[in-house]
Amino acid sequence: MKNLFVKASRRGQGVGTALCDWLEAQARTAGFDHIYLGVGTDNDRARDLYVRLGYRPMGESTSITYDYIDDDGSTKTATEISDYYTKPLL
Ligand SMILES: CC(C)(COP(=O)(O)OP(=O)(O)OC[C@H]1O[C@@H](n2cnc3c(N)ncnc32)[C@H](O)[C@@H]1OP(=O)(O)O)[C@@H](O)C(=O)NCCC(=O)NCCS
Repeated sequence: MKNLFVKASRRGQGVGTALCDWLEAQARTAGFDHIYLGVGTDNDRARDLYVRLGYRPMGESTSITYDYIDDDGSTKTATEISDYYTKPLL
């Protein structure tokens, strides 16, 4: 799973949870047995969401550079240290 993002004014209403649930259902249907993701070491909110949904740390980290669209619609680039998490689907 990459680039999960909910508009700031819509956070805390279950949208992120619904997007994760949808992706997991799609992955199960496609026959995958795990989902993997990277979450920034300082991104406590996203990490809490993933743990609540059953994702667990793999004990591996990496530096990731990615583009994202900010709330004002402009494209930004960010580099962060991410921890890998995984969740079994079967
Ligand atoms: C991480 C992110 C995707 C979560 O999306 P979200 O829509 O806020 O997620 P949810 O609403 O499903 O759950 C998050 C919180 O809302 C709470 N919540 C869920 N449903 C709720 C509801 N109906 N009413 C009130 N709160 C609710 C959850 O308990 C959780 O609480 P907490 O963050 O205080 O622990 C969002 O914060 C985001 O876009 N962040 C910026 C980008 C980012 O960091 N992405 C992750 C990259 S790894």
